[in-house]
Amino acid sequence: MLQVNTDFSWSIRSPDSQTEELDARYLHTVPVHGREYQKYSIEKKICFQPVDDDEAERLELQHEFFNGVFDSRLIFPPIPNPRQILDCGHGAGSWAVEVAEGYPRCEVIGVDISPHMNPEYVPGNLWLQVDDLNRTFTFPPNHFDLVHSRMLATGIDGSRWPSYIEDIRRVLRPGGWVQLVEMYFNAQSDNGSLTENHALRQWSTKFMRSMQDVKDLRVGTHLRNLLMAAGMEEVDTKMIPLPLCEWPNEQRMREIGAANRESVRQLLPALSLYPLTQRLRMPHEEFQQLIARAEEEAGNPSLKAYFPLYVCIGRKPL
Ligand SMILES: C[S@@+](CC[C@H](N)C(=O)[O-])C[C@H]1O[C@@H](n2cnc3c(N)ncnc32)[C@H](O)[C@@H]1O
Repeated sequence: MLQVNTDFSWSIRSPDSQTEELDARYLHTVPVHGREYQKYSIEKKICFQPVDDDEAERLELQHEFFNGVFDSRLIFPPIPNPRQILDCGHGAGSWAVEVAEGYPRCEVIGVDISPHMNPEYVPGNLWLQVDDLNRTFTFPPNHFDLVHSRMLATGIDGSRWPSYIEDIRRVLRPGGWVQLVEMYFNAQSDNGSLTENHALRQWSTKFMRSMQDVKDLRVGTHLRNLLMAAGMEEVDTKMIPLPLCEWPNEQRMREIGAANRESVRQLLPALSLYPLTQRLRMPHEEFQQLIARAEEEAGNPSLKAYFPLYVCIGRKPL
């Protein structure tokens, strides 16, 4: 079931509400070097990631990877009996579907600017809507037990973050929680061996530069400050270094690195094809060479490269 607001205003829909027809402007796609992008999103500078089947598969794989990193825990704060959950930017819907299945008495709402990657199977207690999260939320205040937002740095406008967090705080019920997960796409090295001559560093620098006019790709590093500034309590944040291949000595992190190999191999081109070739005007051949070198380096255990992943939760005061 696909639900969408055609007038850009959100409303809570009851489980038996009617499905609305999807506005055609969200459906149009444009091809770029063999990938499909949502025309509306590109034109409005909302999100520069593909919306094709390959991207849906990549997001599903990434979700499995995150399940490994988080020990299959979907919800981090202590919410024993959630009744209303909002998933911002649900993508291929893996997290929202699993949460809806895990809590059948909970109403889960997913919002995404793109309907293209919606899952085929949608549980009866999950409603997927199409809307732009850069616009002020119109959900009623004091409503959700949990608002989840994962990997949205490439979609939320850089200047929007304080009001985005404020919107999340407003729609949370008193005592409700926000759960944020953001990767910092600046490749780091545990042994200092990654230099500016490495393709991984060059990719990071170019990718960050390609979007600096519209997005804040460093937002992971200041999630804590954002939640504190919004008056959230019990703010807890953690940085998890995600190894890009199986270099760590410690067994668990080594396994995470092994699982991350394929995830990173897909992530580098998917995230940066449009930003680098269209926004930075890098020739496609040069882009392909950069990606090939970066992928090779990511799989080199002696470089000990990783992407920092920031996880942050906070509670709205009672
Ligand atoms: C990297 S994917 C992450 C998907 C999902 N949260 C996950 O972790 O698997 C980002 C998703 O957010 C959506 N998105 C990005 N910016 C958005 C915006 N401003 N409003 C609504 N959706 C947005 C994209 O369409 C995409 O599906």
